[in-house]
This record gives sequence, C-alpha cells and structure tokens, in this order.
Amino acid sequence: MNILAVESSCDETAVAVVRDGRTVLSDAIASQVEMHTLYGGVVPEIASRKHLEAIAQLADRALEEAGLTRREIDAVACTYAPGLIGAVLVGLNFAKAVSYALDVPLIPVHHIRGHIAANYITHPALEPPFLCLCVSGGNTLIVDVEDYTRLRLLGATRDDAAGECFDKVARVLGIGYPGGGPMDRLAKGGDDQKYPLPRSKVDGAPLDMSFSGLKTAALNLIHNAAQKGEALDLASFAASFAAAVSDELVPRVMLAARQTGRRKIAAAGGVAANSRIRRDLESACRAEGCELYLPELRLCGDNGAMIGCQGYYEYQAGARAGLDLNGFASRPVDAPGWA
Ligand code: KG4
Repeated sequence: MNILAVESSCDETAVAVVRDGRTVLSDAIASQVEMHTLYGGVVPEIASRKHLEAIAQLADRALEEAGLTRREIDAVACTYAPGLIGAVLVGLNFAKAVSYALDVPLIPVHHIRGHIAANYITHPALEPPFLCLCVSGGNTLIVDVEDYTRLRLLGATRDDAAGECFDKVARVLGIGYPGGGPMDRLAKGGDDQKYPLPRSKVDGAPLDMSFSGLKTAALNLIHNAAQKGEALDLASFAASFAAAVSDELVPRVMLAARQTGRRKIAAAGGVAANSRIRRDLESACRAEGCELYLPELRLCGDNGAMIGCQGYYEYQAGARAGLDLNGFASRPVDAPGWA
C-alpha cells in the first residue's frame, strides 16, 4: 500500500511516500528555518504562507523520487494535530484535495504519534509495547505505546517543553534559532558541573516534569554574568544546561519503565537528537537491562516519512476521515478518534 504523507505543523513542509508502513520510497522536506531565523523564532503567519508556496511542488518531488505516478497512490495521510493551526490547515487542506481528486482514503495522523513512528523506520524489528520519551519544540511527554494506535499518557511537562527551553536560552545567548542543535554543539568539551542549575519535582506526580524554573535560572545566570561584566564559560554553561534537561527526562522515563514493567524504551522528536540525552538514555538503559531505540538523527525532526508510517497503522486500525476533517492546535496523544 503506497501512502502519500503530508506534514506541515510547524516550520518544515514535508511530503513523503511510504510503502506498507515501513519502507520509505521518498521523503521530501522544505525547511523554513532560514526565514524564521530573521525573527528569532517561528512567525505563524509566515509559516502558513511558506507551506502554501511549497507543498504542491514538494508532493510532485516526493512522487518523482518514489518513481510513482499519482494513480499509484492508495491513500493520503496528514498531520491534523497538534501544531500551529494555520500551518496545520495548509497541509490538511492539500491532503483533502489529493484525497478528493484521486478518490483515495484520507488518514488523519497525530503529529506526536508520527514522531514515535519514526522509530519503526529506523528499527524495522521494533513493535509495541514500549515506552516513548517524546521531546520536541512544543511537547514533552512520556507515553506508553501499548499498541500502534493505543497509547497512554504517563507523564508530561507542566509548563514549557524541553525544546522551547533550549530555544529560549540559545536566543538570549545569541547563538541562533532553533537553538537545540547549536547548544548541543557548544556543550562539547564543557564541564557539566560548573554551573548549578535546578532540577524540578512535581508533588504527587513523579512522572510529570517542569522546565520553567530551569529556564528562568539559566536566563538569570546569563543576565547576572552580563551585569557583572563576567564572561560565561559558554561550553560549560551549555553542558550544565544539557545535563539539567537530561536529568528532568531520563530518570523519569526509567521510573516509568519500573512502574509499568516495560523493558523497551524509545525516544522521539527534535530534542531526541541531543547527544547528552542520547548518552544518558544509553547508560540508564544499560544499567537497568532495558533495550533502547533511538531514531536516526534525520528522523528526529519533523518529516513526512513518520506520518506515512503512523498513517499506515492508523489505516489498519480503521482510521478514515471525511472531507469535513478539521485541524486542531492541541489534542492529547492518547485521544481516541480525531473529530
Ligand atoms: O520535533 P521538532 O523538529 O519540531 C516540533 O515538532 O516541535 O523539534 C524541534 C525542537 C527545537 O526546539 C530544537 O531546538 C530542538 O528540537 N532540537 C534539539 C536538538 N536538535 C533539535 N534540542 C536539543 N539538542 C539537539 N541536538
């Protein structure tokens, strides 16, 4: 079954062709990062307009790279939530037009479920059940993936997402947008103990996280050093910050593994590319005898392949949307259905 998959929830327009869930025939992406860098963050209206300009050409490219004609597409999958709503609606409307014109089923895909599915592409033998740490620019969740389409939310951030936190701190340091990648590179060779940064605890909810205190403490540290005219040791600051973010995430996902008895752990989303978090997950899983699955780096960020992969499993479970399908800025990852 050939699925044309569309993703447009933030600042990457992506169209892929995926065969039978796990074989990626093409994965075309147009990044808007250069444009949003001018403003230090994603400007929602610009994101929607850029998707509108790019999406049809990208679909043609995806088909060409897959070596298929439009008539060889059996279904179209698209992100319908969560994301910047104007951006989501562009991809969704395009997917509806494809579904209408080719008379093929329309499959709605939750963006975070797509991120989780990136692991199925990298690890062909991976099957649920497993736990997944989902860390992106807008979401930070611990999810029990009971089955391909039956998920249970175990823990979540109470405030900022981990990626948002990397981006804000990087912006104040003036090292670019999005900031996670540059912060990761800056941390190489730094002393992760040099700058004391807080770790959070949410009373009564040990699997929930909080990043706002860490973000404020990091920003205060930068501003205080500037006011005193002291130069920050940037590598050590970035290393201390990455260690603090990792300490929010890794011990909690391991606690979730002990609580649920799951022995397979995966990670997903842009922040899952972080080298410190990947290293800490590896050593924690080794220490506790768990198997670790990490998506290859290019599949951590937004892409169409992950939507095509999850779309296949949603289709197998009976998901078919009508042409009245709407988009949503937010929607729980474990919500059944899509209306
Ligand atoms: O999953 P993603 O591409 O988009 C969303 O769905 O949000 O995630 C983007 C986020 C940004 O906040 C970016 O700074 C962060 O992922 N990111 C990283 C790294 N690479 C990207 N954060 C930490 N370390 C990285 N190496």
